[in-house]
Amino acid sequence: MKTDNGVPPPAPSAGRKQSLIEDARRERGSGSTGSPGPSKFGDGPVFEEKEGRVTLNVLFALGNEKNGGFFKTGKIFETFEAKLIHIESRHKYKNSPCELEFYMKCEVNSSDLDVFINSLKRVVDDVSCVHEEKIPWFPRHIKDLNKCNLLITKFNPDMDELHPGYSDPEYRKRRAFISELAFKYNHGDPLPIVHYTAEEIATWREVYQNLRSIYPLLACRQFLDGLQQLERECGYGEDRIPQLRDVSAFLKEKTGFQLRPVAGLLSARDFLASLAFRVFQCTQYIRHSSAPMHSPEPDCCHELIGHIPMLADKEFAQFSQEIGLASLGASNEDIEKLSTLYWFTVEFGLCRQNGVVKAYGAGLLSSYGELVYALSNEPEYKPFNPEETAVQPYQDQTFQPLYFVSESFEDAKLKLRRYSATIRRPFAVRYDPFTCSIEVLDQPCKIQSALSQTREDLKTLQCALEKISSS
Ligand SMILES: [Fe+2]
Repeated sequence: MKTDNGVPPPAPSAGRKQSLIEDARRERGSGSTGSPGPSKFGDGPVFEEKEGRVTLNVLFALGNEKNGGFFKTGKIFETFEAKLIHIESRHKYKNSPCELEFYMKCEVNSSDLDVFINSLKRVVDDVSCVHEEKIPWFPRHIKDLNKCNLLITKFNPDMDELHPGYSDPEYRKRRAFISELAFKYNHGDPLPIVHYTAEEIATWREVYQNLRSIYPLLACRQFLDGLQQLERECGYGEDRIPQLRDVSAFLKEKTGFQLRPVAGLLSARDFLASLAFRVFQCTQYIRHSSAPMHSPEPDCCHELIGHIPMLADKEFAQFSQEIGLASLGASNEDIEKLSTLYWFTVEFGLCRQNGVVKAYGAGLLSSYGELVYALSNEPEYKPFNPEETAVQPYQDQTFQPLYFVSESFEDAKLKLRRYSATIRRPFAVRYDPFTCSIEVLDQPCKIQSALSQTREDLKTLQCALEKISSS
């Protein structure tokens, strides 16, 4: 027997393999004339299409007797010039450890899609397409914050030649030692204690003294209240750098916020996600002693002096958490907008109190120069308006040319909540403080349960009102 091209047929096993590939090539040829579109094997938007290529998630199983099937899938990938993006395997059944299930994310020509799947079905079992995960991962429980540790090295003294500590190996070694404490930290561990040196305390003192002298005139009422409480109850002062452990315990009592040590500047997504849990990721190292009034990256002066007093205020704590909740599962585009909102509020926000503009942003309240400048006649002011603020270009190398002024934190919170509702997410979220977890409201039964709880809360308030009015 001869084949059409005069070549003897291969041995049975090789023949099966060759036949499969040839079949696939033929089908590919006929399939290429068809119009690109959703595969019949999918039951919904299982892939994204771009420039004639689709990204596809495929799940298949490999039985005991089909171990060679996995290698045959490789041939199919080769034939269709499919690009493998991700692969995972797991045992399908506990009592049959030889049965394997594979998950592959791959990219293939749109026109090849159906025949590509058909070819896979010939060599492996239970082929199915699974939905592309469109929602970015986000932490569901407070312990998931262990995974929110993506650092931005832009202003790190090991990378940034303009950092005052760049040419000081001793400083870099010390900073790396303190950062290592944060790297090793896991949720539930006691917060690390740092024994600060006399030089570090001297740097803190200079920053504290200078800023403290101008706060009464320039800082908002909530900040001054918070700072006074910290001085009274938490050992704040110019002679000692407060320990995160003490500050975290203080905040927990005031607003439910707690601290978590961080090794440097975090990615916006990870930082904002922490706020959803009322967790503030806080650096523990201090700026270089040669430049006490300036740090290109967050340090303990910025965090402990600039941020912490405001986090002791209930309205502001709520406002901060709202930004965090809005960020969970948001697209990269929305994360950029939310981090810009954060920048112009939590970092560089101004507010009006008794007709006078005051500072509440930590970037201002930890920078003598910019605090004075921001409250001079030089910069431009605009009312806080999330739609406009979220797309305002910002300046991270020098002072801002423009600041946004909030009427109150309550007002800012309501505006932010309205803005957050416009973020494209197929669900809403809320924080459950009892379980320290995020409740994803994506099903009627979950919404019903949340409503029942809210009704109970309303009954308590109604009862309280009745008691007041009858007394
Ligand atoms: Fe900050």
